[in-house]
Amino acid sequence: NERPGQVLVLYGITGDLARKLVLPALYRLTLRRRLDVPIVGIAHGHLDRGQLHRHVHDSVAAACGQVDGAAVESLVSRTELVSGELSDHATYEGIGHAIGDRGFAVHYLAVPPSLFAQIAEGLGAAGLTGDARLVVEKPFGDDLESAERLNEELHRHFPEERLMRVDHFLGKDAVENLLMFRFANSILEPVWNRSHVASVQITMAESFDVADRGRFYDAVGTVRDVVQNHLLQVLAYLAMDPPSDESAEAERDEKRRLLCAVRAIDPGETVYGQYDGYLDTPGVAAGSTTETYAAMRLWIDNWRWADVPFLIRAGKALAVTTTEIAVEFHRPPRTLFLSPDCDRPPPNIVRFRLQPGPGVTFDLLAKDPATTVGTREVKVSVDFASQLGYTESAYERIFAGALSGDPRHFARQDTVEEAWRIVDPVLDAKQAPEPYERGSWGPASADRLAPGGHWIPTEVHA
Ligand code: BG6
Repeated sequence: NERPGQVLVLYGITGDLARKLVLPALYRLTLRRRLDVPIVGIAHGHLDRGQLHRHVHDSVAAACGQVDGAAVESLVSRTELVSGELSDHATYEGIGHAIGDRGFAVHYLAVPPSLFAQIAEGLGAAGLTGDARLVVEKPFGDDLESAERLNEELHRHFPEERLMRVDHFLGKDAVENLLMFRFANSILEPVWNRSHVASVQITMAESFDVADRGRFYDAVGTVRDVVQNHLLQVLAYLAMDPPSDESAEAERDEKRRLLCAVRAIDPGETVYGQYDGYLDTPGVAAGSTTETYAAMRLWIDNWRWADVPFLIRAGKALAVTTTEIAVEFHRPPRTLFLSPDCDRPPPNIVRFRLQPGPGVTFDLLAKDPATTVGTREVKVSVDFASQLGYTESAYERIFAGALSGDPRHFARQDTVEEAWRIVDPVLDAKQAPEPYERGSWGPASADRLAPGGHWIPTEVHA
């Protein structure tokens, strides 16, 4: 995968993101012998080799449980450290020196977005952009205007084909599978449209709270944290047309076409919530009105999806941790068979579980053996891990993609901007959040957004 002479330059090697996700992913790739490039780690303050070793070891231990000493040693021995301020030209000279004549660098920015433009500028001034790639974490901008501005600033030094925007959901096998499952099988596509689908409901529930991320989260909120990026990408995979070929660009073209057809969200079709106790979180501003829960109804103005409600809900401190999609189908035109409680039988649902335990479930109806004309619900379910085996983590794929230059797991400028256009009216409306209890499903008023006043319960229950 890697190119000879490649070097990975990692900004923020001692930061939170590096500790939780980046270093564990580099370790796993090293362990599986998929990565042996030299690394240049940029740290704010001074760090000696002993401290670096401990930092890598502890990060891996916390994320992976067990630690293979040889893999940690291999990672650390390949890492050269550069300390300095990112505002200082000398730091970039130091980076240039560390890269040496190896020539081809992948600059990975695991630092706050406010530093992205400064680093691109610093690399440009030091003559280090050459054919290098720049990889940036989310959030990319905080509305359409700032995202456009950031694109402009970064493009001054890195053209689009060498600029990679991380959205780690694009590195998830279960997310990629949405496209595969839809288009590799022929049974779904004929019914995947407004004639057969009654609604599509996307739930990203997290039972944990904001914890030690108060300062970051309070400035961001649920819509910017997971809806504008992760969940709109998921929506695009669920609703887009088949790409014209298997290339990453064809896939991105279709995704963009779909997002262009998504109507900007009406704040009147949005409910915000904030869990009880959020205001006591360290780093959260007094009286903050940041949402820790958001539910919304979206509409796709195209031939395939006109008038089909697409619902999204996401939040912290909810009843369970699960990310699931439920595609609800219309009921048969006449009710010939009843459910055991003599009601109309429930509709068919195709469910995609993204986590935990990625898989697919079809909710179907079968004859209830205890009756003559009664139905009972049955589930046809596949657990991907048990049938398909090992899956790389999203961050392993992101690093492999950044090094090989495969844009598939990264977001293209146009889709990022479309996604901001879709959520901007909700952000501008600055709706006050309704309080909700920890461990609940968020504010009850979100029910009004769902058809019939009820969200389809997720497969993972409390
Ligand atoms: C991150 C958000 O992008 O995604 C977090 O900042 C969220 O708030 C996380 O918890 C969820 O990612 P995953 O892969 O654990 O579902």
